[in-house]
Amino acid sequence: MDAEAVIFDLDGVLVHTDRFHYLAWKKLSDEKGIYFDEEINQRLRGVSREQSLEIILERYEGEPFSPEEKKEMAAEKNGIYREYLSGMTPGDVTEEVRETLTELKKRGLCLAVGSSSKNAGFILEKTELRDFFDAVSDGTMITKTKPDPEVFLLAAKLLNKTPEKCLIVEDADAGIEAGKRGGMRTAAYGEAAKSGKADYILRHFSDLLII
Ligand code: BG6
Ligand code: MG
Repeated sequence: MDAEAVIFDLDGVLVHTDRFHYLAWKKLSDEKGIYFDEEINQRLRGVSREQSLEIILERYEGEPFSPEEKKEMAAEKNGIYREYLSGMTPGDVTEEVRETLTELKKRGLCLAVGSSSKNAGFILEKTELRDFFDAVSDGTMITKTKPDPEVFLLAAKLLNKTPEKCLIVEDADAGIEAGKRGGMRTAAYGEAAKSGKADYILRHFSDLLII
């Protein structure tokens, strides 16, 4: 690869917290009698907690929830989600991910995280991943989430790299779009690989070493 920096999405790329997001939303929706399934869940990848709730509520036909109720629901989901996160350990990161990050660093690439999540710091701490990265840009530092490029542009700025020197690694279509809008190259991993919108497709995480 001819990039000088790689900016990684977190949920669904470095760790499988995307599963925990699903389980937490599912628990909340079941409790409130709101229909929710894996297909709707795919649309939540990369978007903020509040926007995720709006997407879930598209299928809800009962009395509309007030802004306060929505705030409470988002907080409740986050509480359930954080319970899953508190059980995370370094063992939740695959050897393949650790070895690939180590090798990219050895090759002189700058590495960053670019995540919409406000829980990114907690996840990086629980999994002991933080030290791999020269910068972290997350949901606590931005005003617009993916597909807006803000989170990636901030990561590039923190790395002191121009966008065209950066490669984005994403599992969300919204994240691939964010990377493109930001003028960066994009690599799709997992779900995002299906839509064929990215510059590169990663069948395995370690494919980053051969593109
Ligand atoms: C993204 C996830 O990384 O973070 C989304 O793909 C999630 O599904 C978003 O909604 C916000 O996460 P959090 O942890 O701030 O609720
Ligand atoms: Mg993701």
